[in-house]
Formats: sequence, C-alpha cells, structure tokens
Amino acid sequence: MKKNLVLIGFMGTGKSSIARILSQKLGSPVISTDALIEKREGKKIAEIFRQSGEPHFRFMEHKVVLEAASNQGSVIDCGGGVVLNPENMKALKKNGVLIHLRCAPKEILRRIKLQPNRPLLDVADPLAKINELLRQRQEHYAQADFTIDTTDGDLEKAAQIIITRVSL
Ligand code: S3P
Repeated sequence: MKKNLVLIGFMGTGKSSIARILSQKLGSPVISTDALIEKREGKKIAEIFRQSGEPHFRFMEHKVVLEAASNQGSVIDCGGGVVLNPENMKALKKNGVLIHLRCAPKEILRRIKLQPNRPLLDVADPLAKINELLRQRQEHYAQADFTIDTTDGDLEKAAQIIITRVSL
C-alpha cells in the first residue's frame, strides 16, 4: 500500500505550495482539506467561520480528513488546525508519513499579509496570536515523523528534502 505524504504545520508555512511541487515531482494527486471543505459547503473558509463558527468548520474538517486519509499515494495538504483532533492524527498516521513544516513567526506574519483570508488571524495583533497558537499547537505538530523549516522560502529545496527523506 503506497503511503500518503501528509503536510501539517501552521498557516503560512508553505503547505499548499510544497504540496503542488511534490505532486508535480511525484505524479501524485493533491488533496487539500480546506479545498474539500469549501467545495462541500459551497463557501470560502472565512465565510464558513463567519456564518457557522469554528466548531462547525472543525466538524467538516474531521469528515474530510477521514476521507482524505483513506486514499493511497496522495499528497494531503492539511489545514493548520487539523492536528488539534487526535482522531484526525490517528487516521492520517495509519497510512501516511506526517511531515511538519515550520517557519519563524515573523515570516509567517509577512506571508499571511500577502495572502489574507485566515479568519483566526484577523485580529488586532496577529503576531501575538500566531505566537499564542503556535505555543498551543507545538506538541501536536511535534507528533510528525519529521520537521522541515521553510523560513528561507526555498520551497523547491524543501520539497526535494522531503522526497529524499521519504525514499530512504
Ligand atoms: C486554520 C488554518 C487554515 C484553515 C482555517 C483554520 C488553522 O488553513 O484551515 O483558516 O486553524 O490553523 P491553512 O493552514 O492552509 O492556512
């Protein structure tokens, strides 16, 4: 059974871009949990948070994670909060290599500003919020098989390191 490559990590760490590069290099399909949720709900993530609240979003997220995890040989691009539910982690680990992408908080902030639409960071002091969430999530992200730092923005290199590590 061919394992899935599961990308976890905070918002702005490069999960979606690296998923696309891995998909091209390996010829594997990409499954994005956020894209699946948006398709199911017919709404953007920010709209779902605004209209239905975070608990509903997490409920939808859990459903799509279980579906995504049942695939083989896919690259799974997980929303940053997927790791918060232990059932999600259990399902993803069953047939997947979990790869954690990390990035310095200030660089996360810079990237998020270029690409807004992150409802959890739509607050007065986003850097403080990034640090707070990172602290809360650290132990969850640490459950990955390995971690890659993307602060330098060289996502091609990060993808290459991942391919080398998983084919060892
Ligand atoms: C979230 C991350 C987002 C998206 C939602 C919540 C989080 O995905 O799922 O806004 O809780 O960290 P990205 O990590 O792809 O930005």
